[in-house]
Amino acid sequence: MLQLAAEASANAYVPYSKFPVGACVLCESGNIYTGCNFENSSFGLTICAERNAVGTAIANGERKIKAIAVFSPNMANCTPCGACRQVLDEFKSESGLDVITKTNDGMKIYSLSELLPECFEL
Ligand code: THU
Repeated sequence: MLQLAAEASANAYVPYSKFPVGACVLCESGNIYTGCNFENSSFGLTICAERNAVGTAIANGERKIKAIAVFSPNMANCTPCGACRQVLDEFKSESGLDVITKTNDGMKIYSLSELLPECFEL
């Protein structure tokens, strides 16, 4: 998944930040989907790699995500921003959702609940 996230990061559209990110989600179905960030001259309209990957999964009929891998060539241990954590929470599987990042000496796996404690849910 980290390899696919790395490949997706190569497609990032980041003329403003020059900070490419790729993400790869694994759904309960076993299917995987990737996404990259794409920016906009109206900066607030930027979409993160994680939400792009989640959106592609949803558009393909998925509703439960088991894990996401996040990769940026510019940063070790690139974790999802707060907005993406909340979006991931919406689609976590019954057993939770793992967040996988690439570190300098391998990889690290967080649970989403550890990254987003006391989260808002309706
Ligand atoms: N970005 C992501 O795609 N995912 C993250 O988890 C953090 C930030 C993007 C947004 C923007 O295009 C660039 O990285 C710099 O913030």
